[in-house]
Amino acid sequence: MNTFYVTTPIYYVNDVPHIGHAYTTIAADILARHHRQLGEDVFFLTGTDEHGNPAARAAQKRGLTPKEHADEMVVKFQDLVKLVNASNDFFIRTTDPEHCAAVQRFIQKLYDKGDIYIKSYSGLYCSSCEAFYSEKDLMDGKCPDHGTEPELVEEENYFFRLSGYQQTLLDFYDGNPDFVKPSTRFNEARSFIEQGLEDISISRATLEWGIPIPWDPKQVVYVWVDALLNYITALEYARNESLFLKFWPATYHLMAKDILKFHAVIWPALLMASGNELPRHLFIHGYLLMGGQKMSKTRGNVLDPFEVMNKYGVDAFRFYCFREVAFGQDGVISLEGFESRYNSELANELGNLVSRTVAMVKKYCEGVVPGPTAKSKEFSSISLRLQENTMAALENVELTVCLEKIWEFVRALNKYVEDTAPWKLARDSASRDALNDVLYNLVEGLRICAILLHPFMPETTLEILRRLGQPGSPGNLAIENAKWGGALSGATVESADPLFPKLI
Ligand code: MSP
Repeated sequence: MNTFYVTTPIYYVNDVPHIGHAYTTIAADILARHHRQLGEDVFFLTGTDEHGNPAARAAQKRGLTPKEHADEMVVKFQDLVKLVNASNDFFIRTTDPEHCAAVQRFIQKLYDKGDIYIKSYSGLYCSSCEAFYSEKDLMDGKCPDHGTEPELVEEENYFFRLSGYQQTLLDFYDGNPDFVKPSTRFNEARSFIEQGLEDISISRATLEWGIPIPWDPKQVVYVWVDALLNYITALEYARNESLFLKFWPATYHLMAKDILKFHAVIWPALLMASGNELPRHLFIHGYLLMGGQKMSKTRGNVLDPFEVMNKYGVDAFRFYCFREVAFGQDGVISLEGFESRYNSELANELGNLVSRTVAMVKKYCEGVVPGPTAKSKEFSSISLRLQENTMAALENVELTVCLEKIWEFVRALNKYVEDTAPWKLARDSASRDALNDVLYNLVEGLRICAILLHPFMPETTLEILRRLGQPGSPGNLAIENAKWGGALSGATVESADPLFPKLI
């Protein structure tokens, strides 16, 4: 059986979760659900990054210990994961004792191998990024991401021989042109490596909140090394058995471009140093912007994901994010944009199509899905193409392209209702077969849409199938069933409130 391992970044607990966090988690969930529909063995990992300076400072401000603070904050992230209906197989916390022990074993191995050495160091450090910057990376002397002045930090640190991996990394990039997707991000990462890599400090002497360096417990492991390792440590303890052999290398690490360098340079080098395989792909998506800027708590332009989803529904939100912004690019989201798409596409085009279909089967066929007199050749070939196109899009993580293909079909079905006008056919008993065919085709078209849309809108699609009297077990949701002619004739439809009540 094929395996599929997808991860999100593990999120910082120094602040509450926002829509940006929900976005990556939903994207990973869409891929996980799709690969389950393909019959693959899937592992989907998300979690929280709980060590480091910002988390320690946030705790201090609240008069809590870092662990007390993390224990409170993690609940909000876990609530968000539940709220967005993510089907993750595990939630890792970097304060898990199993993770900490595995990180210590990992760096001890690198130390024993001679890849880690001690050196005095001074550099400009942005404690919000948890990263050192050289003068040339700064904008007007300030951190390009946070707009704050970095501090001059002078410490004796342990260093990882990153520079020694420059050529091996370049060779790897050249042999794996789809390691980082989209290709613009690949080029960015490769050219960064090409410009020259310096050894990096992988310990901190002034911070107590972290995993102690096993051979020198006065220092703690640099938070990024601790965090990146989550992708492999989780496989060791998520279940009673090790899942490492089964799921490593990961198929996709998803993230936004803010953390590309860590994943495209440091992570592969750490894996090479430890003799592990590299992940198959990194997929770098864009930023959701509000008012033209990346959402961030410091800028104060965040939407509360809990508020939005509780008000409009989770599936509508899941749909909107990937419909509105081409996945991979930056894009602006807004409540107005959301409401307009909700009304035009979810309420009018999809919701209304379901209601009309159910109502017509009730009215003209006593609520029982009719059998077709002949299998529609046209719909058979349209739906075959649709199945292939959506699968190809998701294979390439083109979530927005996939939705667009499905939506073209939703629109074609709406047009089909108008063109065939079943209410007219119903007036003439000679058109009985034609009427049955139209109604069958509508049920069948919607059944196929429901299967293909399932990863995007898990609850709504099950409800569509239920209303159409079609089975919705995981087996029925398999992609191979998104083929024309599979609808159950003789099933009883059920009417209910609109799937997406119009927003006024
Ligand atoms: N803890 C690190 C990641 C360690 S992974 C080994 C971290 N955490 S974070 O909380 O800042 O999360 C960053 C990630 O959140 C981004 O890479 C992206 O996946 C997601 N997003 C945060 N804001 C976002 C937007 N405005 N738009 C899109 N994604 C957003 O970095």
